[in-house]
Amino acid sequence: MNFELLSMDLAAAAQLPCDALVVLVPTPFKPQADEVSVLIQDALDAGDLETKPGKILSLYRPLQAQADRLILVGAGTASLAHIRTAITSACSGVKSSSKVKNLVISLALLPETKGAVFTAMNAVADVSYTYTTTKSKPEPRLLRQVVVAVQGGKEMAAEFKQAQACIAGVEFAKEWANRPANHSTPTQLADAAQGLTNSFKNSSKTGPKMSCEVLGPKEVAKLGMGSFMAVAQGTQEPLRFIVLEYIGSPSVKSAAPNVLVGKGITFDTGGISLKPAAEMDEMKFDMSGAASVLGVFKALSVLKPHIRVVGLIPTCENMPGGRALKPGDVITSMSGQTIEVLNTDAEGRLILCDALTYAERFKPRAVVDVATLTGACVISLGNLRSGLFSNSEDLASQITAAGDAAQDLCWRLPLDDDYAEGLKSNFADVANVGGRAGGAITAAKFLHRFATQYPWAHLDIAGTAWKSGANKGATGRPVPLLLEFLLRNQSAITFTADKPTPAKAKRAVKAKG
Ligand code: BES
Ligand code: MN
Ligand code: ZN
Repeated sequence: MNFELLSMDLAAAAQLPCDALVVLVPTPFKPQADEVSVLIQDALDAGDLETKPGKILSLYRPLQAQADRLILVGAGTASLAHIRTAITSACSGVKSSSKVKNLVISLALLPETKGAVFTAMNAVADVSYTYTTTKSKPEPRLLRQVVVAVQGGKEMAAEFKQAQACIAGVEFAKEWANRPANHSTPTQLADAAQGLTNSFKNSSKTGPKMSCEVLGPKEVAKLGMGSFMAVAQGTQEPLRFIVLEYIGSPSVKSAAPNVLVGKGITFDTGGISLKPAAEMDEMKFDMSGAASVLGVFKALSVLKPHIRVVGLIPTCENMPGGRALKPGDVITSMSGQTIEVLNTDAEGRLILCDALTYAERFKPRAVVDVATLTGACVISLGNLRSGLFSNSEDLASQITAAGDAAQDLCWRLPLDDDYAEGLKSNFADVANVGGRAGGAITAAKFLHRFATQYPWAHLDIAGTAWKSGANKGATGRPVPLLLEFLLRNQSAITFTADKPTPAKAKRAVKAKG
């Protein structure tokens, strides 16, 4: 799908020949001096059109425009959320139509808002996305060309470019998350990561660079990632630890990088603590964190910003088997901390903790892990906002702000030390589960023990990474949030982890020693 940004008023947009013209109509509606504006005013007066976000009035071959179809859509207060709703509603019919290949979206009636172009583009890409990889007769997306028509377009150029890169990243993440587990094994994910670096192979000395290193069972054993290895021991499918690095220009080569860590469980049966059968198929999405990290790297490869980013992906299956991890087993993590595995279904934290320890070697500016970690997070926040946890006020507010700007929302939850009470073990330094209450927080508290050496944030995307039901499919979240965060963070802002409490400090020393 090809996007184009044009600077023009509504009168000019109406002169563009296309299969459909979508016009966003906000409250208050300020008509321009053109015939479509007159039409809108009439429809509003007659009560046939409302400015409520998503309300539609469609016309066929209207005399007022060159388009075959004119879709007037309410855009509410023209907030980013309302713009998203409007576009989603106006374009969801377009997806099923075999007639609409060229689309024009006019934002000319909206007040100029930062993020409007970005939001509109992401919304149209999102509704028109179609998965085809494992269909025998693929029906690919029909939409070819989308023109975004805005007034005062020049300032929007950077936003437009970021949206293009973001969409490429989101679609890459969707593709890998949507693939069934037998088509996205750890090995295949690693190949996909390696594939991303190919376009950089011949880039000049001063140009951006991307590298990918893939570690297998032997290398991971050598590193002492006992926790990660324990999860993978129940399956024939070999684990992979993927290390991606993007260096946007020679000047950032030795800058402290932001490190992204993605949970890459390609299928989560629960292991010996087996999950119930209902909806277990959705556990193919348990590598959505990993897919989002790959998606961010895809976006970086398109946008080529002058920043340094490291991506770490521990990936394996969580299966029951003759050699599988058993409840009660005690394993030793790379940090040296021993873990009593009370529930083999709490496997995400077991693979992430070793990746968090590995991240220390990059002396990161910040580490953000992304994981479909807990069903409890879905209960807390539903499908709208991802759960955010952080040991740094600065980092937490940066990430929240990035999510707001990119319309990829998150909400911060607490990390009080008392929440870790339930993780006490009689047989190891820590247990991998607490009680049922506050499950998203106890999971984050588990990770917190391993993220002592840098400002750290954890995004629990269990509720936001995919949709269930008739529209079952990956969302590509939180690629928009992460990309926005990385781009905002490229300048001189430095994060400081909040002062550790004495208990935390002691643990940090122990973990190091
Ligand atoms: N991948 C799941 C979390 C999950 C469950 C995400 C449902 C989305 C929907 C994770 O590995 C898991 O199984 N977590 C357990 C933890 C529990 C055993 C403490 C959970 O949430 O039930
Ligand atoms: Mn699990
Ligand atoms: Zn899982």
